[in-house]
Amino acid sequence: MSKRYTVTAALPYANGAIHIGHLAGVYIPADIYVRYLRLQKKEVIYICGSDEHGAAISIKAKKENKTPKQIIDKYHKMIKESLIEFGITFDNYSRTSKEIHRETAQEFFIDLYKKNILEEKETEQLYDEEANQFLADRFVIGTCPFCENEEAYGDQCEKCGNTLSTTDLKNPKSIISGSTPVVKKTKHWFLPLNNYQDFIEDWILKTHQKDWKPNVYGQVKSWLTLKLKPRAVTRDLNWGIKVPLETAKGKVLYVWFDAPIGYISATKEWAQKNNVDWKPFWQDEETTLVHFIGKDNIVFHCIIFPCILKAKGNYILPKNVPANEFLNLENKKLSTSKNWAVWLHEYLQDFPNQQDVLRYTLISNAPETKDSNFTWADLQVKNNNELVAILGNFINRVVVLIHKYYNGEVPSIGNPDKIDTATMEHSKNLIRKVEDQIESFHYRGALQSAMDIARLGNKYLADQEPWKLIKTTPERVSTIMNTSIQIVAKLSIVLSPFLPFTAEKIQTILNIKSLDWKTAKDTFSIIEEKHLINKPTLLFQRIEDEVIQEQLDKLKQ
Ligand code: MF3
Ligand code: ZN
Repeated sequence: MSKRYTVTAALPYANGAIHIGHLAGVYIPADIYVRYLRLQKKEVIYICGSDEHGAAISIKAKKENKTPKQIIDKYHKMIKESLIEFGITFDNYSRTSKEIHRETAQEFFIDLYKKNILEEKETEQLYDEEANQFLADRFVIGTCPFCENEEAYGDQCEKCGNTLSTTDLKNPKSIISGSTPVVKKTKHWFLPLNNYQDFIEDWILKTHQKDWKPNVYGQVKSWLTLKLKPRAVTRDLNWGIKVPLETAKGKVLYVWFDAPIGYISATKEWAQKNNVDWKPFWQDEETTLVHFIGKDNIVFHCIIFPCILKAKGNYILPKNVPANEFLNLENKKLSTSKNWAVWLHEYLQDFPNQQDVLRYTLISNAPETKDSNFTWADLQVKNNNELVAILGNFINRVVVLIHKYYNGEVPSIGNPDKIDTATMEHSKNLIRKVEDQIESFHYRGALQSAMDIARLGNKYLADQEPWKLIKTTPERVSTIMNTSIQIVAKLSIVLSPFLPFTAEKIQTILNIKSLDWKTAKDTFSIIEEKHLINKPTLLFQRIEDEVIQEQLDKLKQ
């Protein structure tokens, strides 16, 4: 492990609310990772913020008849609140409309410009003659030249995943006026990715075949096979960060040039507030940089942004980019425009204080290696059969019995026999497994292994049957109950990256706090004899069929 970690999660566009797909693919996995690293006592920052530039914002503003500023203010607030309510523990959730970000992004551009790295070229772009403006990126839709999807965007086809230029589209249409655009000349600045082909090959293809996910590695490889080409980093748009050149009136930085730099400006902002130096987080070789993203962001984080960092010089590169695939909802693609989604703010209204139920369902079914599917029926099963029946049941039984037999005072460990030490040894092995799985970004498996500790506890109690022995051999019961409560304590630590709200409740019941990972793994007796625990509180509640049906009805509306 490194001593310092900079962890980023893709900056969501501030043009809409946030749904379970975002949470499952990006924000929860990153949150598990940073919570774990904090428990390992590492220096770690979790950086995110709203992506507030680009065509996506202008288009939404046009649709809602608002200014872009009104749009980003509305959605920035909403997104930030939902994510924080779900227990996503950012060290800084910033936004790209901030002054510190404008400065940082312009500084990157000017630096590359002065070093003569950027190429200035006259290009042909689509132009809407009715609206009198150039049509960048998503301002145009048309037919994808690769898969014939008739609704491909000017920058990307969502059907086949190919990245496009507006002029690649067949039958292009302006989304402003609906008219067919004409082609017009305009000047732009290009990042010559072709000069970085060898750099990316050496860095990713040669060194990360084993430790990067196959989907990420594969996408990079296919880009390299097609050969990297120069890519424009400016746009003719009236919303964005101005290109800081006299000769670039009316032009802004391409959103994918400025947004990833947002990770750096957000780090600077955080560092200023905390009176520390931001540089080690981005420039020290001993720092591990990890980008959590969705699969549609791979090329930007594995090729374009690293090339920008390389061109700027002195920056570290990501150690890993654990991109996830997509989450579907009830077997259909999540869609903001079709309102086919579970919105976080709505979930919280319908299921107050049940963030962990959703976190659990999303993690155990995360789209780690292929697209996965969220269903309400699955949430019900996971809640009733796993959270209630395994985890809640085990903890509740232990706590109730300790109150019943000892008035809440933890009994002595006495003389543990083989089965007790073997059980503790087994739990230690499971914790090691969780550790490996978290460090290698396998969160479904990690959560499984953590739950196996609860399964182990349940089996131990059922096999030992303390309730049959309390009259005849109370010393034995004392050992069993001490061992059991230690397992509960371990669970409260190991589960905390996944189910932070529940972990906190368990620690309140146990009357313990601020434990670290090492204690969970290596200490046999976390809780001492005679320690007083609190009364049990309800951790999970059964979810009935009607509740699930209501959600299904709501979706179909
Ligand atoms: N806003 C982009 C999206 O939602 C992600 C931007 S990630 C960053 O796909 F690196 F550019 F910040
Ligand atoms: Zn396509």
